[in-house]
Amino acid sequence: MSNPVKIAVLVSGGGTNLQALIDAQSRGELGQGRISLVIASKPGVYALERAAKAGIRATVIARGEYGDIADYSRALVDELKRSEIELVVLAGFLTIIDEQVYNAYPNKILNVHPALIPSFCGKGYYGLRVHEAALEKGVKVSGATVHIVTPECDAGPIVLQKAVEVRPDDTPETLQLRIMQEAEWKILPEAVRLFSDRKVTVKDNKVYIN
Ligand code: GAR
Repeated sequence: MSNPVKIAVLVSGGGTNLQALIDAQSRGELGQGRISLVIASKPGVYALERAAKAGIRATVIARGEYGDIADYSRALVDELKRSEIELVVLAGFLTIIDEQVYNAYPNKILNVHPALIPSFCGKGYYGLRVHEAALEKGVKVSGATVHIVTPECDAGPIVLQKAVEVRPDDTPETLQLRIMQEAEWKILPEAVRLFSDRKVTVKDNKVYIN
C-alpha cells in the first residue's frame, strides 16, 4: 500500500467496534487506512487484547492518572503526534476530551454513536443508557451514527447513519447488540475507508461524499 493513512482507535471497553475495524482491514476494506495505534482510557479492558491479537501497537493513557481534562487531552495529543497519526477514531471511547484534541485534528476525529443523531445523544447518553432512553420513548426505529467530533458533544457533522428496527420485546441489551451488528460494525469501517481515501468534504457543518 502506498502512503497508508495512519489511524489511531481510542477505546474504553470491550472493543467490538475496534474488532470490526480490524476485520475490515484484514479484508482490505479500509482503503488507504492502516490501524497503527490503539489507545485505551483504562487498563485491563478487553479491547487491548483484541489489539494484541491483531499485532497492533496499543497503549493505555489512563484517565484516572490525570487531574483534569486538559492534562489528559494534552497527553493524548502528545501520543497521537508522536505516532504520526492522521485520523482518530473514537470507538466506544467514553472519556471526555477538550479542544486541544479537536484543534490538533480538525475534521479528523470520528465517533460512532449508538442512535440516530439528533435523537438520544449529548451529555449522559452513552452505552446502554442510549438504548434505555430509546425504549422508554417507544421509538420504532433507532440505529447508529458516525459523525465528526467537534467541541459540542455529539453535534458534529454526520458522516453515515443506518436505521435499525426496534422490536416490541427488545431489552436495552438486545437492542444494543442488534444496532451493533446491523449498523455500527458496518458504518464505522465504511466511514473510516471514506476518510482514508479522502472521499469526504465538509462544508457548512455538513458532510459531502465524493
Ligand atoms: C458502542 O455501542 C458505541 O456506539 C458506544 O459504546 C459502545 C462501545 O462498544 N458509544 C457511545 O455510547 C458513545 N456515546 P465497544 O467497546 O464494544 O465498541
